[in-house]
Amino acid sequence: MAGRFFRYRSLGELEKEINALSLNLSFEHDSSKVRSYLVQPVKLGKFLAGNSIAIHPMEGCDGTLTGKPGNFTYRRYQRFGSGGAKLIWFEATAIVSEGRANPRQLLINDNNAKSFENLVRDIKKVHKKNFGTNSDLVLILQLTHSGRYSYPAPILCTHNAYLDKITPLGFSKEGAISSAYPLISDEYIENLEDQYAKAAKLAWKIGFTGVDIKLTHGYLGNELLSAKKRPGRYGGTLINRTRFLRNVLKKIRGIVGPDFLLASRIGVFDGVPFRLNKIHGKGEVHPYSLPYLEGFGIDENNPLEASLKEPIKVIRMMRESGVSLVSISMGNPYTNPHIGRPFDKPDAGNYSSPEHPLIGVDRQFELCAKIQRTFPDLPIVGAGYSWLQHWQLHAGAANIRDKKVTIMGIGRAALAYPNLPKDGLEKGTLNVRTTCKTLTFCTYLMRQKDHPLGQYPTGCPPFDKKFYGPLIKQVRSNKKKQ
Ligand SMILES: Cc1cc2nc3c(=O)[nH]c(=O)nc-3n(C[C@H](O)[C@H](O)[C@H](O)COP(=O)(O)O)c2cc1C
Ligand code: SF4
Repeated sequence: MAGRFFRYRSLGELEKEINALSLNLSFEHDSSKVRSYLVQPVKLGKFLAGNSIAIHPMEGCDGTLTGKPGNFTYRRYQRFGSGGAKLIWFEATAIVSEGRANPRQLLINDNNAKSFENLVRDIKKVHKKNFGTNSDLVLILQLTHSGRYSYPAPILCTHNAYLDKITPLGFSKEGAISSAYPLISDEYIENLEDQYAKAAKLAWKIGFTGVDIKLTHGYLGNELLSAKKRPGRYGGTLINRTRFLRNVLKKIRGIVGPDFLLASRIGVFDGVPFRLNKIHGKGEVHPYSLPYLEGFGIDENNPLEASLKEPIKVIRMMRESGVSLVSISMGNPYTNPHIGRPFDKPDAGNYSSPEHPLIGVDRQFELCAKIQRTFPDLPIVGAGYSWLQHWQLHAGAANIRDKKVTIMGIGRAALAYPNLPKDGLEKGTLNVRTTCKTLTFCTYLMRQKDHPLGQYPTGCPPFDKKFYGPLIKQVRSNKKKQ
């Protein structure tokens, strides 16, 4: 199916567009070289990932109401386990119940630990069956607190002049955040550090290779990095804004084994909020004034551009605190989804991409490359490949070849086509028909709340029809009745 932007019949045509847009994106043309770059094992601390492909963390919103993995969760991870990627980064998992983003987000605690253990056992079983060994399989659990996007009510560590106006007070509540809305106390944050450490200890005991302290996409860990106006120990200077991160890492290191991997997915450029322009349907920026003092990784004098000065300092601090694996992401899925997930078609009701999606892909690759080149011996996972459809492995191989990244991470493309890594590595070609077309039905499902459990599970309705087709039909039929 031809998308709005993606209409290339050959890699040559795609490269022509890239040249016309004066972008840096490049591809490895030789399929055998593509395989040879992607098949390279990567040392991660004391562990080895058997190739250079990762599955990104992606929430399925399909847990039980108490936060245990549900049937769809087990199925998703079994599919990833047999797909051929050797680094599987488990989705955003809340560490306290009030920090969940929806009533079906996974929650790790003593009561749920056994179910997570079963999930790890299942994925290892299916991986071993397919590939003969688990010795080169790395499993990272992403730990999070949803902060401003918590359900049922936002939990704020800082006010944000722009985001407050558009952050809803809850799924079905009218209104946005006012300046009187309370901020969490330093004591709450300090206690959260212990909760992260507790969750990491559980993850270690369950059999995860490591944990990720999530610092991206507008959630609490990310928002603390930008809390320049927050008073007290966790706001203001960069040292204060990173206190939470450094304390969490120290506390975790104190209670897990020395080999347990510490990782972090960091948003290196928050970007500014966008909104739908009702006349042309494209995204447009919310009005802002200069200097722009909100957000992280932003050039204060031109907030449409990134400034990596602070992200680089934060990554340096992470390294000093024992982090040995970093994943680079950016943007805020609620307010500027084109930055983190370049797409051809928006989810219904949302804005069309305000820029050519190739510009978004290029931004992801270039910011990641700057970080990788600053830290050449730090394994970095890069994102933004799905929009390139069946040429994404060629781009990943070129980025590894050019030392712009260590590991290519696959997001939506793995929901649509979980065997993509295996096909790419074994056959050197992908099935064009089932490769993700970035049509955004997955995000659409994720945003729908009128399910009897308060949240629809998400997956790929076009290419995983049997499981997600009926769900999208149900959503549409409910909308018609409204
Ligand atoms: C349905 C869905 C759920 C996601 N959940 C998470 C998540 O739990 N944690 C996270 O860091 N990123 C999450 N992401 C972002 C992806 O990990 C990835 O960065 C993004 O989709 C861009 O990669 P892609 O172009 O390969 O899809 C999610 C994306 C989608 C589409
Ligand atoms: S619904 Fe499927 S094809 Fe569409 S963006 Fe999501 S994974 Fe890709």
